[in-house]
Amino acid sequence: MELMDAIKGRRSVRKYKADPVADETLQKVLEAVRWAPSWANTQCWKVIVVKDPKVRSELSVALSKNNPALSSISEAPVLLILCGTKGIAGYYKDQPRTAKGDWLMFDTGLAMENLCLAAHALGLGTVIVGNFDHQKVAEILGVPQSVEVVAMTPLGYPASEAAAPKRKEISEFVFYGKYPER
Ligand SMILES: Cc1cc2nc3c(=O)[nH]c(=O)nc-3n(C[C@H](O)[C@H](O)[C@H](O)COP(=O)(O)O)c2cc1C
Repeated sequence: MELMDAIKGRRSVRKYKADPVADETLQKVLEAVRWAPSWANTQCWKVIVVKDPKVRSELSVALSKNNPALSSISEAPVLLILCGTKGIAGYYKDQPRTAKGDWLMFDTGLAMENLCLAAHALGLGTVIVGNFDHQKVAEILGVPQSVEVVAMTPLGYPASEAAAPKRKEISEFVFYGKYPER
């Protein structure tokens, strides 16, 4: 698949078939995470793979009833929970290097986009889910305090095609030379 086609064609998929994802296909998706760029190549990400339907339905309780991705958590055969180890990205000798503090949200974001694009290129669907009770998920999965639960995504074969939500025009977010005065 052409890179631009993958970037433009990837959609948030919220309806899944029950068909399983082969282990070698899952490995390809995880390989894409492995090659994401990160602060000083620190690779702070951790991915928890959950296939057990009981655990997936337990985890779905961490989402509010009005989260549009709610049903996909139990529907898709695989759930990937993306976490980041704190105090690595953006740090040097245990001290933050910049005023931005921990860059784990940034680096795990890059890893997640790699994951979603690779999944899409393999015919799989994903939807990044960030709006949930992170503490509850950490407790259920035994994630230690030193690691931040960031986002999750179901992984499986799409049951329906989603329409692309509209994007802003380039002229709305690109400024040449200087940020415009208000
Ligand atoms: C950081 C982040 C958090 C998100 N959280 C949720 C979520 O909790 N529930 C959901 O249904 N979609 C969630 N989404 C998906 C966005 O709604 C979706 O990416 C956006 O509407 C654009 O649609 P597209 O992915 O099909 O291009 C999230 C996306 C991002 C990047």
